[in-house]
Amino acid sequence: MNNISLLPTEEGFFGEFGGQILPDGLKEEFSKITETFLKLKDDADFNKELNDLLKYYTGRPSPIYFAKNLSKKYGAEIYLKREDLNHTGAHKINHSLGEALLAKKMGKTKIIAETGAGQHGVATATAAALLGLKCDIYMGEKDIQKEKPNVTKMRLLGANIISVKQDAMSLKEAVDQAFAAYQQEYETALYAIGSIVGPHPFPMIVEHFQTVIGREAHQQFKELTGTMPDYVTACVGGGSNAIGIFNGFLNEETVKLFGVEPLGKSEKIGENAASINFGKKGSIHGFKCLLLQNEDGTPAQTYSVASGLDYPGVGPKHCYLNSCGRVKYSTINDIDAISAFYELSKTEGIIPALESSHAVAFAIKLAKENPNSKILVNLSGRGDKDIDFITENFPQ
Ligand SMILES: Cc1ncc(COP(=O)(O)O)c(C=O)c1O
Repeated sequence: MNNISLLPTEEGFFGEFGGQILPDGLKEEFSKITETFLKLKDDADFNKELNDLLKYYTGRPSPIYFAKNLSKKYGAEIYLKREDLNHTGAHKINHSLGEALLAKKMGKTKIIAETGAGQHGVATATAAALLGLKCDIYMGEKDIQKEKPNVTKMRLLGANIISVKQDAMSLKEAVDQAFAAYQQEYETALYAIGSIVGPHPFPMIVEHFQTVIGREAHQQFKELTGTMPDYVTACVGGGSNAIGIFNGFLNEETVKLFGVEPLGKSEKIGENAASINFGKKGSIHGFKCLLLQNEDGTPAQTYSVASGLDYPGVGPKHCYLNSCGRVKYSTINDIDAISAFYELSKTEGIIPALESSHAVAFAIKLAKENPNSKILVNLSGRGDKDIDFITENFPQ
């Protein structure tokens, strides 16, 4: 399993997943985006500008923290990659800064994005404020009600929030609307997608900017422990934080990688958002992936207590890593994620995002089953946005 490529084929495929399904009018623009990105990713000035922002603005490298109390309680060594400590509170800022810089270099004046939990929205609004770009964020009305602190932040940062009231009023509908708006505005705007999803080259671009997590983590873990972790785990919505950390360890054969999908209320279609575990081959938002779908192939309704994981599709790279067996994809339900949310808060003084709580819950499960092992968790974000919702609806 050595040397799994970071890049898709020229047509944007990872195995049979990915690709680029676009309306004719956008094909030329997407070729321009691909060409500009491929040039910039190896450009010394671009990388200096981005790396300076990551260091002095975001606060990278994010540390790896040995969670001593949690480890003692569950009998394995649990380490946290602290993406929650980034400016804006999650890993999303890693790719948002990259996307906003790319937009500037392409001469665009506006960024369009969707958001579920609000973390990608806040990160995009932040990058837009910093770089002097206009910013439109599409967000499902259900998520607007649930993630109020992030909505307030986006408004403070100068973003225009467009409430999406179609169907489930959640992340999928927000992407639908954002794409529709982008089709009208692509000459002056760039669509800054929030995960490794969408038509090629979007997954490749977001993956590139998130790989900083794995690069740092590989070196930091070695320095801290003198060895490699036995397990690396991360939650998977579209899959950007997970691919970011996995890329650092894909070619370390002894390291077992686990993506954690949201099981929500049950295994029934409509009651979870575990696309790899329960989806079938299909397409959504311009790419092929494992998709939670209705009998006629349309995307199914999904559900998770974590808005940022509530999406029927998943990044093509994860579908590929699943098919070749390099990464295993497990699930955690709402109840266990909420319990991990409280547990990390009370044992370590760290309030995790509900999305990240899925990975923490899985690490606890791994620890119980594998005493004395070393487990590295990507703590993708902090839980400030979730505290009102959780304490009001699931008090402990
Ligand atoms: C903190 C946090 N973690 C994880 C995710 C899921 O996204 P991804 O799978 O792209 O990392 C989100 C999405 O909003 C998030 O806010």
